[in-house]
Amino acid sequence: MDYTQKMMQADALKGKTIVVTGGGSGLGKAMTTYFLELGANVVISSRNQEKIETTARELEAQTGGKVLAAPCDVRHYDQVEALVKQANETFGSVDILVNNAAGNFISPTERLSSNAFDTIIDIVLKGTKNCTLAFGKHWIEQKQTQKVVLNIVTTYAWTGSAYVVPSATAKAGVLAMTRSLAVEWAKYGMRFNAIAPGPFPTKGAWDRLLPGNLKEQFDLAKKVPLKRVGAHQELANLTAYLVSDFSAYINGEVITIDGGEWLKGAGQFNLLEDIPEELWDMLEAMIRAKKGS
Ligand code: HXC
Ligand code: NAP
Repeated sequence: MDYTQKMMQADALKGKTIVVTGGGSGLGKAMTTYFLELGANVVISSRNQEKIETTARELEAQTGGKVLAAPCDVRHYDQVEALVKQANETFGSVDILVNNAAGNFISPTERLSSNAFDTIIDIVLKGTKNCTLAFGKHWIEQKQTQKVVLNIVTTYAWTGSAYVVPSATAKAGVLAMTRSLAVEWAKYGMRFNAIAPGPFPTKGAWDRLLPGNLKEQFDLAKKVPLKRVGAHQELANLTAYLVSDFSAYINGEVITIDGGEWLKGAGQFNLLEDIPEELWDMLEAMIRAKKGS
């Protein structure tokens, strides 16, 4: 058994309909693949119709499941309302919303135009708000219960991070929304949780966060105590569990899956891991010699 294997029982999501924003590429595609393998119908959406159509046909052929490719720019509420309608018309109802779509790039903040900052906030925070509000209102109006919203954030939602300030600001808002609605909308039969992934290589993220030879200069695996990046299947395993009925008592939680990366950055003395054993012998002797002084 290893971490790249599939974790859930075969029919764990049978009969569920799941909407995955940004489901045509990267982590959204990995989650979608596993949801289909576990018996769910999946609606994938993004701005690029050709991309999601291609992914939908590929994953239907690979898994035998049903995929609706529904173009939608999450920044626009009218498009999100159309997504709700189309998903319901195709599959009867929607059980689970995964707010995965995101936009990001590295930049010193003073170089950003106001519109550049807004663009990231609009995709990540406003997009998550638009989808959550549209699906949430629909479920409340229809008196449908046992619904799940899963938001994909990052660990810098609570630590903050230089050079990705609009993304950090937006993800922090998404986390606050997750925890707030976990309480407020529990009475309508909805659960809200979040996942904070560490580095999981995808083209979308790597091209924008590690352009050119930054990939070689900043090996993200080195920042992780477990000394590796994440595998898509281990994220898909966690995601499938959190949207399934097996996690029915988990509500308002953010689960970090980063090999210990953010805590390594946080601990004041964590950098001492580079000290070799012989030097520790010497340092211990020096510290012990101070006894009583
Ligand atoms: C400064 C930039 C810029 C850059 C764009 N802009 N790129 N400013 N540096 N590198 C400015 C533009 O000049 C414009 O401002 C404004 O931002 C909007 O740009 P557009 O290209 O018109 O926007 P749009 O076509 O909507 O594209 C959105 C995007 C793009 C975010 C800029 O990168 C995108 O489509 N991304 C989607 C996928 C993605 O980002 N995936 C990565 C998620 S990774 P002006 O003022 O000129 O009009 C992630 C991981 C986090 O979140 C954690 C990892 C460990
Ligand atoms: P990705 O492949 O670039 O995924 C982002 C997706 O969002 C794309 O499919 C994109 O499709 C879609 N999208 C962007 N703007 C949109 C909009 N306005 N409306 C609808 N869809 C839009 O990157 P990824 O690495 O898989 O990221 C997935 C999620 O994981 C994101 O929430 C990201 O913040 C999070 N995350 C990733 C990492 C990592 O290491 N990869 C780490 C922490 C968190 P279109 O361009 O076709 O619209």
